[in-house]
Amino acid sequence: MSNVTTRTEPDKQMPLVGKMMLAAVLAAVAGLMFGLDIGVISGALKFIAQEFKASDAEQEQIVSSMMLGAALGALFAGQLSFRFGRKKALVLSAILFMLGALFCVIAQSVAVLVVARALLGLAIGIASFVAPLYISEVADEQHRGGLISVYQLMITIGILLAFISDALFSYSGAWRWMLGIVAIPGAVFLIGSLFLPDSPRWLMLRGRPDEALETLAALRPSRNAAEAEIREIEGSLDHKQRGLAMFRENPNFRRSVMLGIGLQIVQQLTGINVVMYYAPRIFEVAGFGQDGQMWGTAVVGLVNMLATFIAISFVDRWGRRPMLIAGFIIMATGMGALAVLLSFGAGSSVMMHYLAVAVLLLFITGFAFSAGPLIWVLCAEVQPLQGRDFGITCSTVTNWVANWVVGMTFLTLLGTLGASHTFWLYAALNAAFILVTLAFVPETRGVSLESLEQKLNRGVRLRDIGR
Ligand code: BGC
Repeated sequence: MSNVTTRTEPDKQMPLVGKMMLAAVLAAVAGLMFGLDIGVISGALKFIAQEFKASDAEQEQIVSSMMLGAALGALFAGQLSFRFGRKKALVLSAILFMLGALFCVIAQSVAVLVVARALLGLAIGIASFVAPLYISEVADEQHRGGLISVYQLMITIGILLAFISDALFSYSGAWRWMLGIVAIPGAVFLIGSLFLPDSPRWLMLRGRPDEALETLAALRPSRNAAEAEIREIEGSLDHKQRGLAMFRENPNFRRSVMLGIGLQIVQQLTGINVVMYYAPRIFEVAGFGQDGQMWGTAVVGLVNMLATFIAISFVDRWGRRPMLIAGFIIMATGMGALAVLLSFGAGSSVMMHYLAVAVLLLFITGFAFSAGPLIWVLCAEVQPLQGRDFGITCSTVTNWVANWVVGMTFLTLLGTLGASHTFWLYAALNAAFILVTLAFVPETRGVSLESLEQKLNRGVRLRDIGR
């Protein structure tokens, strides 16, 4: 424990251990489910409404019951993952996910569909809490950022697949297929999660150091590396408080919790889900027909996925802060340009029409290599071990509540401010987030979780805890 300095040099690249990579990728499949469910409903809703003759209010319930379920799922996930372990929580979320998908397929009324979507939400809430946390706990510091970004990649693949399946099934109106097909990755996730090792940090938290060492040794290039890491983890168990008590009494922990909450608010206020949920509408305003809207939306999904590779490749080399700042600059520019175009009437000429698409894709690219993955990365990294479940619960619940708020307010904003001013607002917010990043966001590249925790506990400024 005293020998923390014997830790492997942070700058030296360790060979990537296949098992660690596999564990992280399997856990990231949770992201696939997250993405599928975010993406699938926009295409299915029209047909569901037709079959059940659902009113606007009922349609809103079908959409928002998932967010509500997700916020609830994330709220309970902390307790679940602390008591039963990250792995069992992931298995539970896979089971709930499949049940939810099944109920969607057989639903004969709006009420059953609302319950089924809430069940799916619960599953996603748990998964979106546990997956990045689990990955941060099994990964070594040289690959942590990239591996957590794989989780975001899975979200984007899920969204893309959902957009494509929506487009394909829309010709036949087969909404039960659109919703049911997500059970397939659910089954893959269930089988995969049964084979995951327990998180070594969780085993330590539960007082099972021998198992922790065995598990970690299988995930690291050498037993020595695993032993050194275990000693470091032991150091972070010195603090006796946990969760809410720790939040009340430890001002340093309050800072990391507030940082996590703030980061997730920032992620949602970039306006990403305005684009995700309303892309077809934006394409319509830009003058595209029905087919163009659907396939244009699929292109948005594709670019979102492809640009995530930039984060996976470079986040552990360039660092979190520069990539976030670059992303906010691009997003502010994209939103601002969209605002200008809309004030001229984006659909008024063919050139404007394509310019609108180009700036939308610029915005998506900016998000996908920065705030998309990096907010999840940072939220999983900055919490001290004893308060990690509580801290990440707070940030994940915030993600879902903020997601819901943005979705609910967008149309009102359009109605009151008009399209151009609404996008100006998002441009200004993204510009402000550059300053927020400079002031508060730490650079966590190549730094162990335990070292971040030591600095946080010493009262070092948030933006300096990675130095
Ligand atoms: C966000 C989601 C968003 C998705 C888009 C995620 O990081 O949390 O709200 O829909 O990225 O790719």
